Amino acid sequence: MEFFLDTADVKLIKELNKTGLINGITTNPSLVAKSGKNFLEILKEITKIIKGPISAEVTALDTKGMIAEANKLKKISKNIVIKLPLTENGLKACKSLSKRKIKTNVTLCFSAAQALLAAKCGATYISPFVGRLDDIGENGMELIQQIKSVYSNYKNLNTKILVASVRNADHVIKSAIIGADVVTLPPDTLMELYNHPLTKKGLDAFLSDWKKTKQSIV
Ligand code: E4P
Repeated sequence: MEFFLDTADVKLIKELNKTGLINGITTNPSLVAKSGKNFLEILKEITKIIKGPISAEVTALDTKGMIAEANKLKKISKNIVIKLPLTENGLKACKSLSKRKIKTNVTLCFSAAQALLAAKCGATYISPFVGRLDDIGENGMELIQQIKSVYSNYKNLNTKILVASVRNADHVIKSAIIGADVVTLPPDTLMELYNHPLTKKGLDAFLSDWKKTKQSIV
């Protein structure tokens, strides 16, 4: 399973890329607003750090406008993936871009029916938002399981499941059990994955015993 970072914070991307765990990046207009920086500049900087897929979201609502934005975003680097909203116009743009072999990430997916439409339009990635479904009392992970089952039934559907709106380690591990292709992680959630109270407790005990031996390795 691939790990993408869900952020537009270039400094953090640079730092967390050192973990060796990052396969790609997803951004969205809210994350860009939070960074306070110019979108195109951010993308240029990210492409210098990350060689894997970098999702850049269009903001037009009409298909023609989305395609015009996609054409501009694509020029930044060949690893830019065009992120499109799961609307009728977004899926028309998806169909047209996939015919041109331009990679797409269809975002704001909240149902298996929507995921099926995106796959039929040739989306490279579908982004179901698990955390936001949990927030309204639904079960985000159930949606991932449904999409996985639907896609597995048809060999000609090659869309990858990119689990988005991930909030915790449970989302990550359940995605891996289901066999989702990618999870996109907020930086804090990635860092949480390293932690377990028994790891900390065990290390403290080992180090305290080691001190008693008065040895050093180097
Ligand atoms: C996905 O690509 C989105 O950027 C993101 O995962 C949304 O997550 P949120 O619900 O935490 O805003």
